[in-house]
Amino acid sequence: MAVQVKPCGSALGAEITGADLTRPLDAAAFAQIRAAFYQHEVIYFRGQALSDEDQIRFTARFGELRRLKLAMQAHVEHPEIFVVSNIKKDGKHIGSYDAGSLWHTDGAYLVKPHAISALRALEVPAENGRTLGDTNFASVSAAYEALPNAMKKRIEGLQAVQSFEQHLAKTGGGGVKKDIYSTVKAASEVVHPLVRVHPVNGRKCLYVTEGYTASIVGLPEAESRDLIAELALHCVRPEFTYRHNWQQHDLVMWDDCSTQHKATFDYPASSPRLMHRTTVVGGAALH
Ligand code: OGA
Ligand code: MN
Repeated sequence: MAVQVKPCGSALGAEITGADLTRPLDAAAFAQIRAAFYQHEVIYFRGQALSDEDQIRFTARFGELRRLKLAMQAHVEHPEIFVVSNIKKDGKHIGSYDAGSLWHTDGAYLVKPHAISALRALEVPAENGRTLGDTNFASVSAAYEALPNAMKKRIEGLQAVQSFEQHLAKTGGGGVKKDIYSTVKAASEVVHPLVRVHPVNGRKCLYVTEGYTASIVGLPEAESRDLIAELALHCVRPEFTYRHNWQQHDLVMWDDCSTQHKATFDYPASSPRLMHRTTVVGGAALH
């Protein structure tokens, strides 16, 4: 069966059908999926009962995967897998239990932020026949494109501080506890261009999030705060978003340069949710 790409009809997102990710894909099928990914920024596959090995093998075709050393989020056998879950075993969380409560992009606080994240649904909470715990995505290339020219001029060449510490303070941890915080602390605050040029498709992307962006270099504090708030709100206007309603065995991949995302915590703590994430490492942010 041939690979098919079905765009969601909003600023980003496409469903890919006709690919069985439990088997190695031939070069032509992979090239089609890769092209769809960089065009649509978020792609998803439904009904893929993948093993961790399948997820690792498929997503590693996009680039080198990050290997984690964080005791809590890392999968016991696969350091490439970051566990996102509200499940507790022996009274302890098995993964990051409140990942994504604010709009953010993964690894923004790193000198080389993540390029791509891929999240696979193993268990999805449901109520009255509808699954809960949707993830919202926003296209920050579409958001940049839609800015008035005066704003594009105003922000040209600006740089912003992306802060793990701010995220920690705003969220209370994102499941990352003090004991493992030290492992990321060294890179807890970095400066990236406010407008990034996408390394693959060349699109200009607004790199400002509610979660991580702490200040704009060289601006007075009040102006920096107001501009961050204005741009962060602009990025997530409904016309730039796609809301993914999860089904078990979905694999969703997003571009961490041209999108941001936010989880919906609309399910009870007693309903288990289990997701496995792999991330492709990125290069230095271009401008
Ligand atoms: C992530 C994340 C959101 C969600 O895995 O990086 O932000 O809905 N997840 O699980
Ligand atoms: Mn995330």
